[in-house]
Amino acid sequence: MALKFITAEEAAMFVNNDDNVGFSGFTPAGCPKVVPTAIAKRAAEEHAKGNPFKIGMFTGASTGDKLDGELARANAIKFRTPYQSSKDLRTLLNAHDTEYFDMHLSELAQSLRYGFLGKVNVAIVEAADVTENGEIIPTSGVGITPTICRLADRIIVELNDKHPKAIRGMHDIYEPADPPYRREIPVYTPSDRIGTPFVKVDPAKIVGVVKTSEPNEGGSFAPLDDVTMAIGKNVAAFLVEEIKAGRLPKEFVPLQSGVGNVANAVLGCMGENKEIPAFNVYTEVIQDAVISLMKEGRVKFASGCSLTVSNEVLDEIYSNLDFFKDKLLLRPQEISNSPEVARRLGLIAINTALEADIFGNINSTHVSGVKMMNGIGGSGDFTRSAMLSIFTTPSTAKGGKISAFVPMVSHMDHSEHSVKVIISEYGVADLRGKSPIQRARCIIDNCVHPDYRPLLNEYLEMGVHGHTPQNLKACFAFHDELAKTGDMHNVDWSKYND
Ligand code: COA
Repeated sequence: MALKFITAEEAAMFVNNDDNVGFSGFTPAGCPKVVPTAIAKRAAEEHAKGNPFKIGMFTGASTGDKLDGELARANAIKFRTPYQSSKDLRTLLNAHDTEYFDMHLSELAQSLRYGFLGKVNVAIVEAADVTENGEIIPTSGVGITPTICRLADRIIVELNDKHPKAIRGMHDIYEPADPPYRREIPVYTPSDRIGTPFVKVDPAKIVGVVKTSEPNEGGSFAPLDDVTMAIGKNVAAFLVEEIKAGRLPKEFVPLQSGVGNVANAVLGCMGENKEIPAFNVYTEVIQDAVISLMKEGRVKFASGCSLTVSNEVLDEIYSNLDFFKDKLLLRPQEISNSPEVARRLGLIAINTALEADIFGNINSTHVSGVKMMNGIGGSGDFTRSAMLSIFTTPSTAKGGKISAFVPMVSHMDHSEHSVKVIISEYGVADLRGKSPIQRARCIIDNCVHPDYRPLLNEYLEMGVHGHTPQNLKACFAFHDELAKTGDMHNVDWSKYND
């Protein structure tokens, strides 16, 4: 069946008000760019005529500004799931102008197949190549592409020549059967291939192919500061001790590391510490540091859902495909983030907290318990199932006025039952095998900023006797004081201790 080449504006006409649209990619990597921008323009035109135009959106994770940003600014989003990190979209969803529901990334594809989230009317996917018989080669991010292509009535392909056709072979596309027919996902080592190098779709559903040369909206990393470096070194030193104590195998286990600057710094420090053997990565986002370590032979193989690297690094990979192609594998998020695989491989999962409490519960998503930051992402998929679940965080935020360690988290994403180790720039709190009171002393002594240690020790003394010494009248005093005075240092327990 011959492919029909169309413009982005023509493609946008296949998307109607109230449609649910699935987008390819994961982070800005692999996301369509020109068609979403054209849909946003169409929405603005419809709104100007007094007509409604909003779509429901399923994505892999966060996207680029040409997708979430453009559609948010056009007020064209009815609902959105799962993870996002767009400033404009964040404003809309915190004001309830867009309904947002946050979910574990590994669960989205199956929730769509189970029909829990409504119909997928249109799939818009970026491709490095597409054939007349319906083989689509994704670009640098996969996300939920196979599932939305299978479920959608109409498929629009953005064929982007910034990604060479020669990346065919870098993807492993596999969708598990649904219950009661599901079997194990047969990934036993990070490099195992279990599917096909392409997404196979019904070619009759491809309503148009839009050619483009838009580069990825790759971000760059902030220069490493003392706090970030200290966290990275603490993680590496802790893992070395775990190998020496025989709690981690000397061959090591695969690593999952989260998003952002801290994660990039942790990887860099692990690479530099030669007491850690060369290791494999089984993760969702493959960041710049993994590629540098791969060139040095410190990372042997990386399996992920996206190459979330700067454009410079992406060009380097594409110019040296002979070197990288057998060391990198991109999978759908249902597989890269599978709790079953994470448990089997015995991952070390390292993610970042916004806030932790002294008993080991983690808030990754809600600023002061109310405002959505980004979403839970894959942190829950990995944290609950890893062999060793680590959370890192700077001990304070906003110039020290906010302590990242509080009596009780203002929102909980990961409970004390899943969180094994917390690491700040001050040190390591190993929570394994400790009772709530022991965990609290361990976190206060090792991770909390010295300014806040006396306040948190005093809080423990005010705790009501019981297994977990919380004081429900005082547990949000840190947040209360921040809201009233802008500084958690001003907590005065006598106000709560009647
Ligand atoms: N209270 C209020 N604000 C806080 C805060 C707290 N306890 N801790 C941090 N912040 C603010 C920072 O000051 C910063 O504000 P700014 O943007 O105005 O400068 C912002 O939150 C981000 O903090 P930063 O230290 O730059 O965090 P980061 O970029 O390392 O991201 C998370 C941290 C938690 C937001 C991010 O890792 C995330 O979204 N995690 C959830 C998903 C996840 O773990 N994904 C990986 C799974 S594989």
